[in-house]
Amino acid sequence: MNLKSSENDMRERSSFGSKFGAIAAATGSAIGLGNIWRFPYVAGENGGAAFMLVYLFFVIVIGIPMMLSEFSIGRYTNRNTFGAFRVLRPGSKWYLIGILGIVTAFVILSFYSVVAGWTIDFLKESLVNGFAGRSSAEIKTGFDSFVESGWRPVFWTLLFVAATAFIVVSGIEKGIERYNKILMPLLFLILIGLGINSATMEGFREGMSFLFKPDFGKITGSVVIEALGQAFFSLSLGMGTMITYGSYIRSRENMLTTAGSVAVSDTLIAILAGVAIFPAVFSFGISPTSGPDLVFITLPNIFQQMPGGYVLSILFFLLLFIAAVTSSVSLMEVVTAFCTEELKMKRRTAVLAISLVLAGTSTLCTLSQMPDSPLKIAGTNLFDFFDNVSATYMMPVGAFFIAIFTGWFFGKNRLRGEFTSGELYGTGLFPFFLFLVRFIAPVVIAVIFLSKAGWLKL
Ligand code: PHE
Repeated sequence: MNLKSSENDMRERSSFGSKFGAIAAATGSAIGLGNIWRFPYVAGENGGAAFMLVYLFFVIVIGIPMMLSEFSIGRYTNRNTFGAFRVLRPGSKWYLIGILGIVTAFVILSFYSVVAGWTIDFLKESLVNGFAGRSSAEIKTGFDSFVESGWRPVFWTLLFVAATAFIVVSGIEKGIERYNKILMPLLFLILIGLGINSATMEGFREGMSFLFKPDFGKITGSVVIEALGQAFFSLSLGMGTMITYGSYIRSRENMLTTAGSVAVSDTLIAILAGVAIFPAVFSFGISPTSGPDLVFITLPNIFQQMPGGYVLSILFFLLLFIAAVTSSVSLMEVVTAFCTEELKMKRRTAVLAISLVLAGTSTLCTLSQMPDSPLKIAGTNLFDFFDNVSATYMMPVGAFFIAIFTGWFFGKNRLRGEFTSGELYGTGLFPFFLFLVRFIAPVVIAVIFLSKAGWLKL
């Protein structure tokens, strides 16, 4: 059976349409809170430069090949992540990867919406100049009491869920993605500005050596697993987003440059965020191991002391919010595509149902941050638990099976056809790619897991 449909026979999945710029969509999904909020805080907790080095290694050796694998599966089958495995291996259990992806999307969306809600609150505070004249300690207490206040952050979280749902229903191509092409470079420019501003801070040297001068002794098992998880999280891998988006890549388009440019811009934004944040962290006496609060207690300090900070902080939080929406939209699209194609639901009904469930789970995540909240799993509040479990467990496990599937079950000729876009590009690189997905990616992920579980001593 030839599953490959022609370009004009694109399945009606959403209002993306075939004109949809694959690079813009995939970049919009990849760049988000993962780069600016999660990367600095996870790097800060895991020794800085040592983490960064391992992270970069994983992006190149596992991230890019995995992105190409997901694109290939998506483009070949033209289906949602569940349907893709079902049609490729009918009657097998491979569709479970799709189910895992859908659950992962929900888990990520639940805490992602909370952090995205914070960006809206910070946008509002920036507009009214609410951070002005506050000391670093006051900013921290202010943030803590906001997060712990319960219903105020819930309001923003729900607003963000509604915004995501609105865009998924009304069409991504027509709306935000078009602006994304202008707005993401703007975010990039602001980050460069913040980076330059960092050079004027007293903590500049300390911040830079924290980020770029690795102490190899700090590369422990948990640093490695956190770096792997962050690479998957930041590149939106291991749960089907890039399978879903891969189906919008036209058959003659060069996937190598698509995956390459997504990975390069995503990584650059993360590194720039680090350069903007860490000098300030050391200048203002904030602990690099502050956890998920890190960026939110550091940024107001930066904007307050820099020239033009008032306008820049408004612009920055607005762009961060938009970056977050283009990522959450891609997460919701994974579930929506499943509901419309497999469960034959109407798009509107599907989005409504998804949003209602999400409103519940994201509210629980927000409330779990109140002091004495009983919303805990294994001693950790729901927000931290979801954040941890998705990146360190669910995405690597998903990626492991996607790698095995692509390398061993997808079919070598089909894979070559997708990888080279019908022998148009990169034929010489194919054996190298095949080696990475067949052996390196699954073995590395498995070894990291076995050592984490204590079954393997490294
Ligand atoms: N990559 C996004 C970010 O960095 C988050 C995301 C994860 C989006 C998984 C889609 C799928 O913000």
